[in-house]
Amino acid sequence: MQIDFSQLAPLDRYRWMASTVTPRPIAWVSTLSADGVSNLAPFSFFQVISDDPATLLINVNHRQDGSYKDTVRNLQSSDELVVHLVNFAQAQAMNASSATLDYGISEFEQCGIASVPSQLVKPPRVAAAPVAFECRVAQIQPYPAQSPNCSLIFAEVLLAHIDDAVLDGRGRIDPHKLDLVGRLGGMAYARTQQSFEMQRPS
Ligand SMILES: Cc1cc2nc3c(=O)[nH]c(=O)nc-3n(C[C@H](O)[C@H](O)[C@H](O)COP(=O)(O)O)c2cc1C
Repeated sequence: MQIDFSQLAPLDRYRWMASTVTPRPIAWVSTLSADGVSNLAPFSFFQVISDDPATLLINVNHRQDGSYKDTVRNLQSSDELVVHLVNFAQAQAMNASSATLDYGISEFEQCGIASVPSQLVKPPRVAAAPVAFECRVAQIQPYPAQSPNCSLIFAEVLLAHIDDAVLDGRGRIDPHKLDLVGRLGGMAYARTQQSFEMQRPS
């Protein structure tokens, strides 16, 4: 089977990409509006793209009418965000926070998600998240250049919060304890509870 992407409708392009490039980690992003209202939303077109400086990339689509999602709108007035990783215990709350709420209504409050203050940035962080990165926007790039339909958020990591409960005896991450969820195609998700090791060739 071959698929000529130039012949596909946008929704089909999304479906083929989202169901093949799997599992995708989920960035659970908190931001703050200019009025000080917190916002929380998940994004799975997400990856670490550099470790020096430590940088995360999040793709936020524009809405059908061309308007910005609340996350991008907030980042246009403040360059601070917290990017959380989502474990199985937080999956339902993460999903609930993807609801489209009117601008100015906080998913933290609407979905009953407990928050704690961040240290270096203004947006609060999810209290129960196993990993939270306090970040500053390095760049927001509309994409593609000719007729943008999304914003690529380059976020530089300033401070990481790691739940001690996900560490092993040597103080390193135990992936089984971390138990992150990954996005598959459709409504499916994976858990990172199964792993195997391979030694690199010399
Ligand atoms: C698991 C999951 C992954 C998602 N990934 C993306 C994504 O990569 N890009 C995107 O624009 N929306 C994504 N969404 C949808 C957004 O979370 C949703 O549009 C949300 O309402 C945006 O919130 P905001 O307007 O507060 O920024 C995803 C939703 C879920 C549940």
